[in-house]
Amino acid sequence: MKNKKPILILAIETSCDETSAAVIGVEKDKPIILSNIVSSQIDLHAKTGGIVPEVASRAHMEAMIPVIQDSLAAANVKLDGITHVAVTAGPGLIGSLLVGFNYAKSIAYAKDLPIVPINHIEGHIYSTFSDDNNFKFPILSMTVSGGHTALTLMADHGKYKTIGQTRDDAAGEAFDKVAQLLGLGFPGGPAISKLASKYRDSKKIASIEFPRPMINDNNFDFSYSGLKTAALSEVNKRGELTKDDKEEIAYAFEDAAVDLLVTKTIKAVKEFKPKAVLLAGGVAANKHLREQLAKNIESNKLDLDLKIAPMNLCGDNAAMIGLAAYYHIIRDDVKNWNEIKVDSNFTL
Ligand code: KG4
Ligand code: ZN
Repeated sequence: MKNKKPILILAIETSCDETSAAVIGVEKDKPIILSNIVSSQIDLHAKTGGIVPEVASRAHMEAMIPVIQDSLAAANVKLDGITHVAVTAGPGLIGSLLVGFNYAKSIAYAKDLPIVPINHIEGHIYSTFSDDNNFKFPILSMTVSGGHTALTLMADHGKYKTIGQTRDDAAGEAFDKVAQLLGLGFPGGPAISKLASKYRDSKKIASIEFPRPMINDNNFDFSYSGLKTAALSEVNKRGELTKDDKEEIAYAFEDAAVDLLVTKTIKAVKEFKPKAVLLAGGVAANKHLREQLAKNIESNKLDLDLKIAPMNLCGDNAAMIGLAAYYHIIRDDVKNWNEIKVDSNFTL
């Protein structure tokens, strides 16, 4: 195996609806993102109001090779210069995962390179370390996306324990479904956030407050289906929705959704006393969530570092997969192409 040259990783991510490839290099013992190409399928899925798995895998097939070529070109490297391949092995949609996984395996086979299978959640976690490698363990990570709502304790690199997760819908999924109820299109997170901010800035007093399921339960799990149902009843009650109705419902929903995430995170901090809290995943792009988490850490006088993924790395991308892979590579945790398996339910 060729791994004597300085580390240069080609990372691939296709677990859901973004086809992405990135090149990660190393500078001063720190991984750096040399390129990160993301081809989004949003327009395709907007037509159906959500992701149709078969449509997603077909789109990955079409985009994969150009995306890999663009990532190499943008990093100004040739495939022959690559020393390691990294790929998302799960969790995710099986048909989507298989596309990136098989391309990655083929490259590792053809070029005789070691390969690093990465858990998608682990990738999101490492997206918060894109510009420093100042790890202070233990770390508590909140990963919130369209597919996941997970609180993970990290004792060290590679040592994870999931302490809480959703019992039903993921937070992002709830944002998407409520947006659909309000006729805001797909994906719903950014649209809800925009209306909710407008309402919040107007300083109006909302006439509704949505429930916060499981918020006081003695665990770190989440439930979003009750909140989604509450939004549905409110929409049904109001009939034809005015612009003001939509803003008020978006606001009340975002308030409850964010409150659930922040309250459980703070509760976990108090119990596990981490030295750092991470916020990552598509929903981490939510302005209210970013602000509320920071505010609550401060008001509770919690002595820890808060690291939030940069906006460009909140959504699915291959750079985060390559960053996570770097920490496997430096501890020699790499595999041969024929030793790895895709697992749509891959747990950390
Ligand atoms: O991480 P991601 O790109 O894909 C998954 O792994 O699921 O997350 C996508 C999710 C979608 O549900 C989208 O609505 C949500 O992230 N999202 C947001 C915001 N931007 C994206 N949710 C709330 N507020 C936002 N600003
Ligand atoms: Zn994701």
